[in-house]
Amino acid sequence: MGEKMKVSLVYISLSGNTESFVRRLSDYLLELHPDIEVEQIPIKDMVKEGQPFFEMANPFIAFLPTYLEGGNGVDNGDVEILTTDVADFIAYGDNASKCLGIVGSGNRNFNNQYCLTAKQYSERFGFPVLADFEMRGMLGDIKKVAGIIEDLYGIEKNESSF
Ligand SMILES: Cc1cc2nc3c(=O)[nH]c(=O)nc-3n(C[C@H](O)[C@H](O)[C@H](O)COP(=O)(O)O)c2cc1C
Repeated sequence: MGEKMKVSLVYISLSGNTESFVRRLSDYLLELHPDIEVEQIPIKDMVKEGQPFFEMANPFIAFLPTYLEGGNGVDNGDVEILTTDVADFIAYGDNASKCLGIVGSGNRNFNNQYCLTAKQYSERFGFPVLADFEMRGMLGDIKKVAGIIEDLYGIEKNESSF
């Protein structure tokens, strides 16, 4: 048989919420589809360990929490802090063209700034915002994103997918 279908999840997580979501999403996808491979690419760890960026060999999904400097996201407060390594990774080589879309995370208490950085990346790089979730995300968020990933990668849905 051919190689396993590989789903790649590129993410950054400063306080662990996005990492938790990506881990639970990976577990969920693998339980539904034991025949696929799910690769997690933690950008913060790569940078901390001094690993050089590389060009992605296959399509990936990016997961990005919003961290902004003050403001209200309308007149001011749209300056990204802490997560810009993800933009650098996406801008590296041909990676932007391999990004199928971005999943934003944040906290609705930030009102207009909710998940703003994911929207900014979508505009800058020209890929869609696929979904958004708050904090660590709920099971419903995981199921929704798993369904989107099945569609984007052409993974055949099975009974448990619904
Ligand atoms: C300093 C700071 C600024 C933040 N700014 C925003 C914001 O502008 N919009 C938003 O939706 N969430 C904002 N958040 C909430 C985070 O995006 C949210 O807690 C997210 O789950 C963090 O993900 P992580 O734990 O993977 O780092 C902010 C959090 C902090 C600590």
